[in-house]
Amino acid sequence: MRESIERLKVHAIPCFSYPEIAVTAFKRLLDFNTWKHRGEEAILPHVRNKEKADTLINSILRAGRYEVGEDAAMEILSHYGFTFPEKALAHTAREASAIAERIGFPLVMKISSPDILHKTDVGGVKLNINSEMAAEDAFLEITSNVRRLMPDAFINGVMLYEMISGGKEVILGVTYDRTFGHMIMFGLGGIYVEVLKDVSFRIAPVSRREASSMINEIRTSALLKGSRGEKPVDIESIIDGIVGVSSIVTDFPVIHELDINPLVVMQKGALALDARIIFERQKSS
Ligand SMILES: Nc1ncnc2c1ncn2[C@@H]1O[C@H](COP(=O)(O)OP(=O)(O)O)[C@@H](O)[C@H]1O
Ligand SMILES: [Mg+2]
Repeated sequence: MRESIERLKVHAIPCFSYPEIAVTAFKRLLDFNTWKHRGEEAILPHVRNKEKADTLINSILRAGRYEVGEDAAMEILSHYGFTFPEKALAHTAREASAIAERIGFPLVMKISSPDILHKTDVGGVKLNINSEMAAEDAFLEITSNVRRLMPDAFINGVMLYEMISGGKEVILGVTYDRTFGHMIMFGLGGIYVEVLKDVSFRIAPVSRREASSMINEIRTSALLKGSRGEKPVDIESIIDGIVGVSSIVTDFPVIHELDINPLVVMQKGALALDARIIFERQKSS
């Protein structure tokens, strides 16, 4: 008996002292499986282009990359209904000023580098740029900050974005748990997540109804529904976002972490301002 138990343990096969517990555990497993495959109200998002996302993800993995920041992450997310501010990449300070004139002011400039996922930390983000001259200066400042703090980072250039104002910042996240699989996280941006840890979680896939209860569950959800004379934000577009990230990771389990921080929710619609995706490391073949 003891030897058999050891063998089961070695192979991570559950083993119980009493049949009742085994049967109960088996029932739970069955319930979980039924729940996971429940044909509930379409869990699919309105926009879903799995093939296009698949091509992109494959090319990233083939290139041996496991973490992608804004540019690539936004492109993948765009195939699941996410929208972004207008943007364009500048390779030189002069180009930055030309693009700035085209996009219009105010704008935001950010370092574009496959090696940098936390742009603010390396002086790689400038908000509120209000003139062509300021755009040229910001280009030089951002590139020199990054060269100083991360001399080995490859720099594509500096991305210019239309600056979004108004709206409320929320965070959508995904982490991978070895027991539960993909967990979807929702919270309000800034101090609400970082200091108050006011977030809600669900196991993917998440339905629209569950997404809506994730939003209601956080302590600060009143801030989204319009308090002190403020207009409420577009809750449906947050639900779209939660269902969107949930379906991406359900379609592509190779994604182990995903962050949209922030997603800015307006009175109508929402825009993702920053995103990153981390893939499971492939076993080298
Ligand atoms: N296009 C934009 N319009 C308005 N605010 C922005 C825009 N992009 C970024 N921000 C603000 O700047 C912050 C930092 O930018 P982000 O791209 O998230 O960089 P990081 O890599 O440091 O997270 C964001 O949390 C957001 O508040
Ligand atoms: Mg961010």
